[in-house]
Amino acid sequence: MIDETCIRDINPNDFDDIKKILKDQIGNQYSKELELELKDIESGRVNGIVAVSKDTGLCGYASWRYRVESAYLETIAVDNKLQSQGIGGRLLRIIEQIILDEKPGITLLNVVTDSDALRTINFYIKNKFVPSGIVQDEFIPGTSQIHLSKKLSEN
Ligand SMILES: CC(C)(COP(=O)(O)OP(=O)(O)OC[C@H]1O[C@@H](n2cnc3c(N)ncnc32)[C@H](O)[C@@H]1OP(=O)(O)O)[C@@H](O)C(=O)NCCC(=O)NCCS
Repeated sequence: MIDETCIRDINPNDFDDIKKILKDQIGNQYSKELELELKDIESGRVNGIVAVSKDTGLCGYASWRYRVESAYLETIAVDNKLQSQGIGGRLLRIIEQIILDEKPGITLLNVVTDSDALRTINFYIKNKFVPSGIVQDEFIPGTSQIHLSKKLSEN
């Protein structure tokens, strides 16, 4: 199955499929943020890639932006029917390679996620992110966020 999945640059025709994938994956609080993020992709402020399965169509989405001297992973999501097959890891590796190719001076990829999202945190740890701190009430009162960082290198 994984070999039948290709990863390519995003385009605005993908937006409806991305919203469908994310509808079940992220809390309602974040849906407005997603709309803004897709606008930022259209304007080029945010970069995006998608995974497309030969059988089921668009099945994964990841986005990032450049900030000062680092890159920030905005969103990563895989269709829940196709999770745990390596698609999320492939999306991450491709983003890392694009960053190294496009902006060789940038060697840090950062991400923030809910600190109780243990499976998501495991995904980042498995992909060599290291926790750098927890911030209380960062986006939602009563919800803390964990910050993680990955040092990028060609190896
Ligand atoms: C996190 C996510 C992108 C990982 O994608 P994936 O294609 O399942 O990732 P991989 O197959 O490369 O890695 C799987 C590992 O990620 C972890 N994982 C995190 N969330 C998971 C989930 N919902 N289902 C399965 N595995 C998950 C597990 O440790 C898993 O390892 P395992 O298969 O040995 O149990 C995907 O699970 C997802 O879309 N989650 C919901 C959206 C989300 O929370 N995104 C992050 C914040 S924007």
